[in-house]
Amino acid sequence: MKILVTGGAGYIGSHTTILLIEAGYEVVIFDNFSNASKESIRRVEAIVGKEIAVIEGDIRSREDLRKVFMAHKIDAVIHFAGLKAVGESVEQPLRYYDNNVNGSAVLCEVMSEYNCKSIIFSSSATVYGDPHTTPILENFPLSATNPYGRSKLMVEEILRDVYVSDSEWKIVLLRYFNPVGAHASGTIGEDPNGLPNNLMPFISQTAVGKREYLSVFGNDYDTVDGTGVRDYIHVVDLAQGHVNALDRIKNFKEPMTINLGTGNGYSVLEMVEAFERASEKKVSYKIAERRAGDIATCFADPSYAKEVLDWEAKRGIDEMCEDVWRWQSQNPSGYIS
Ligand code: NAD
Ligand code: WQD
Repeated sequence: MKILVTGGAGYIGSHTTILLIEAGYEVVIFDNFSNASKESIRRVEAIVGKEIAVIEGDIRSREDLRKVFMAHKIDAVIHFAGLKAVGESVEQPLRYYDNNVNGSAVLCEVMSEYNCKSIIFSSSATVYGDPHTTPILENFPLSATNPYGRSKLMVEEILRDVYVSDSEWKIVLLRYFNPVGAHASGTIGEDPNGLPNNLMPFISQTAVGKREYLSVFGNDYDTVDGTGVRDYIHVVDLAQGHVNALDRIKNFKEPMTINLGTGNGYSVLEMVEAFERASEKKVSYKIAERRAGDIATCFADPSYAKEVLDWEAKRGIDEMCEDVWRWQSQNPSGYIS
């Protein structure tokens, strides 16, 4: 089976491409490289030991997408392409709606033209807003506090409408919790542009000496030590969730919405300690103000993924931190090094 991976040069897409190829799928990567480097694909090719078909293009361009479907008989799409920085989405909402929402609609339109009607979409735990309780189940109320989150909610709804209009569509909405970690080779990983928004790359850049200290955003939450609690999931476990979803997609009778998380929550300070253990480096930090829009606690109930995908996360926080450290220490400047 041939799978189109939009955003396949990015962080989660590159890891998923490896597992897809290892599972026997053929992959075509489609990416506009707005937040990725071609070097990531070269390194994925080195890991899997074969060349990968890559088409440079934008999901908002029908012409770019038609080139893919004309050149390849695509059986299913894993749709990672999108912009993901929450703060940036508040400053540039129209860019986010155009890229994430319009881009996804154009992608579905062109898929439909070529009778390709199976899609796995990267949604996010951000669609649960501030949950009334944890662990979070898929049927919890949905809300969003920023344009990025709303773009994910909108695409989920668009895809459900597409199914209502044509029940031949096979749709899986995967809601990721907090992806971290890197491939065990240490050759690919998360490579944020500029100042990282997310905790784990900030910790690892502090450990490697690129940042002086981590600002811990608030220590007065109602949590184990006052700092925010999240469900960090190893990116390779997350990637495996996509392979399991793809293996089963033909059998799903209706759109599936599935949490991909571990079910365990760790605080910011617990993650700092785990990283110090893994790296044997000091991670300096200072307590700072709460970050606007943050919630105290977020972790998944992952039992539905176990039931319908026969999937569960296998890697714990120590392995996550060891793998991030291998990537960070071997590539202190990311792919440009
Ligand atoms: P990433 O930025 O590393 O990867 C996204 C890829 O999409 C990049 O390679 C980028 O160049 C490409 N892209 C963006 N806009 C495009 C367009 N218009 N046309 C073609 N390519 C385009 O991000 P990631 O962390 O790998 O995330 C992948 C997906 O998962 C995103 O949709 C993101 O919103 C979602 N997600 C990520 C997280 C997270 O914390 N990393 C959590 C939940 C959901
Ligand atoms: C984790 C914890 C911070 C940075 C975001 C998006 C979400 C999803 C994943 C895509 C929080 C604290 C962080 C720092 C800190 N992305 N922190 N200092 O906020 O759970 O989720 O990424 O879908 O949509 O909102 O992840 O890694 O930013 O923060 O103290 O420098 O670390 O306050 O408690 P978050 P994060």
